[in-house]
Amino acid sequence: MGPTEKDVLVDWLNWLAHLPPKFKMVLATVGAVIVVSLLLLFELFRLKLKADGNKRKAVVPNGSNGLTKEWTKGALEKISAHSCPIFDGIERAQNPMPWGSVLDAGTGSHSLEWILSIETNRWVAITGDRKRQTELEREYASKFREQDVLTTGNWRDPEFLKGQRKVFDVVLADYLLGSVDAYAPFFQDRLFDRLHPHVGRRLYITGAEPLPDHTQDPHGKIIVEIHKTRDACILLAGERPYREYPLDWVLRHVKHKFRVTHVSFFETSHTRGFVETQISVAESKLHKIKDQSLRKTMKGHLNELRWRVRKMTWPAEFSHDYVVCLEPVESLEEEAEEPKVPEGYRSEVQEQRQVYPRDEHSSDSETSDEEKKDK
Ligand SMILES: C[S@@+](CC[C@H](N)C(=O)[O-])C[C@H]1O[C@@H](n2cnc3c(N)ncnc32)[C@H](O)[C@@H]1O
Repeated sequence: MGPTEKDVLVDWLNWLAHLPPKFKMVLATVGAVIVVSLLLLFELFRLKLKADGNKRKAVVPNGSNGLTKEWTKGALEKISAHSCPIFDGIERAQNPMPWGSVLDAGTGSHSLEWILSIETNRWVAITGDRKRQTELEREYASKFREQDVLTTGNWRDPEFLKGQRKVFDVVLADYLLGSVDAYAPFFQDRLFDRLHPHVGRRLYITGAEPLPDHTQDPHGKIIVEIHKTRDACILLAGERPYREYPLDWVLRHVKHKFRVTHVSFFETSHTRGFVETQISVAESKLHKIKDQSLRKTMKGHLNELRWRVRKMTWPAEFSHDYVVCLEPVESLEEEAEEPKVPEGYRSEVQEQRQVYPRDEHSSDSETSDEEKKDK
């Protein structure tokens, strides 16, 4: 019978025990270096994953802290470039007021995770999608307290969230507006009025500026192309894509029932991971496209986009995200003055409207002249 595993181990230990002290020191040092390097590598990998997950990076615009009187002069919050500028900005605007009760009017893992990290008396989080509710429960239910509620409903339904305890100190509409087109099409103009009775002290709106149809920016070009292709796949699959709204649209639609206290904006930092996720979303819709040749063509185009993305350097800054902080007013006696977009804020999609839809070679006047001749 040969030596057992135990015998081999004992032999090894004996050999180690009889090594000269110098060798023992060398072995211990090498072992420690390997363990520390592995720990460092693991930490670097974790930080990289975290950075990739955070697609929004702060930009520090000119201007002072925005209070109503000054804010048309470029009243922009200065927000540091760490983990989440959106929620950092909201926390600063809220300081020193306590959170009290919080309503997350359009929840997801990002906003729910943040709400779980702040000190609230109670919170209610809403999604329009029951499947999403189940997913979020699976991930976070262990952190819910008895008084916290995650539920599914639709803001279009006038009966939804009626009854007791319906007023919250803070209401968060985090990227809710952009997604309303998928859940309650053509309800966007009524969303903030619908939320008004639930707002006790503060409403925070976050959103993404719509991407322009055309751009000269090399990263912008591919980002726009991916968004268009993604939305085309969603439409061909028989679903409704999201529709983002510009900051000035938001400001026009809150003016009767809210007073704007702070506005912040950020250059959106598109990581490679985020851009590739948009391609994956498009791919996940392909099986619902009935026309086989169209499906194949779309698949080919998505592959090509993925290949082009891999050849570029990321992250890239393109377009803006914004945060608006508001307080409810009961009713305004006079017509409220229209809040203006802060200085330095650029809406590419709105600027391009001055050039498009016609290109420079075919003006409206030429067409109307021809029409005149026809008559
Ligand atoms: C883009 S997600 C919001 C992002 C989210 N705050 C996060 O942390 O990632 C939009 C959320 O709003 C919900 N939603 C959109 N329209 C809605 C509506 N009309 N009524 C209720 N919920 C709606 C969606 O179901 C989803 O949960």
